[in-house]
Amino acid sequence: MMQMQKQKPTVRTDIEIRPIEEQHREWLKSRVQEIWNGRFVVSRGISYEPWKLPGFLAVRDGVTVGVATYYVHDSECELITLDSFTQWAGVGTALIDAVEEEARKQACGRMWMITTNDNLDGLRFYQRRGYVICAVHPNAIDESRKLKPSIPLVGNYGIDIRDEIELEKNLWCWIGW
Ligand SMILES: CC(C)(COP(=O)(O)OP(=O)(O)OC[C@H]1O[C@@H](n2cnc3c(N)ncnc32)[C@H](O)[C@@H]1OP(=O)(O)O)[C@@H](O)C(=O)NCCC(=O)NCCS
Repeated sequence: MMQMQKQKPTVRTDIEIRPIEEQHREWLKSRVQEIWNGRFVVSRGISYEPWKLPGFLAVRDGVTVGVATYYVHDSECELITLDSFTQWAGVGTALIDAVEEEARKQACGRMWMITTNDNLDGLRFYQRRGYVICAVHPNAIDESRKLKPSIPLVGNYGIDIRDEIELEKNLWCWIGW
């Protein structure tokens, strides 16, 4: 089998990162509705309204090209949503870097997120950035659907959306690339 070379993720410098401010909330509310099939998302049985949370916008040439929201509690930072409107162009990386930097400023030792078993692109993305799978919650989406029936049955690549996959990074130990 051919050995893959481990390469550092690309960092783009033409993307400006701005904190979400009050003036962005209504826009974010409708964007969340559109992307996430409702005004809230569910993670580990808890509903979050991303448009009310702190986060960052990625802006290129005056156009918003992505958004990330997070929730800090118990010295941990949970990435609640990460959405790139222009994939494979450095937006996701710029946003997750900004959230990590903020989490460190707030003395968080752990950053973590939930994704679903169909999100192969997301799993690849996070693992390439030092996140490790720390738990798999089989059939957790059955419970999430009780709170949010609009969660689709089938997700990316025609895969049934079924399990929650939890990934984490120890922000104190991660020394980067
Ligand atoms: C997962 C997600 C956030 C990634 O965002 P993205 O903007 O595509 O991420 P990036 O562009 O920063 O990185 C993706 C790849 O593109 C590469 N890339 C970046 N700029 C590039 C460029 N100019 N040319 C070619 N490749 C480039 C990156 O290096 C990276 O590859 P690597 O991991 O091998 O380094 C995005 O796919 C997404 O929004 N998915 C839908 C929502 C979702 O699943 N969110 C996360 C789970 S809740």
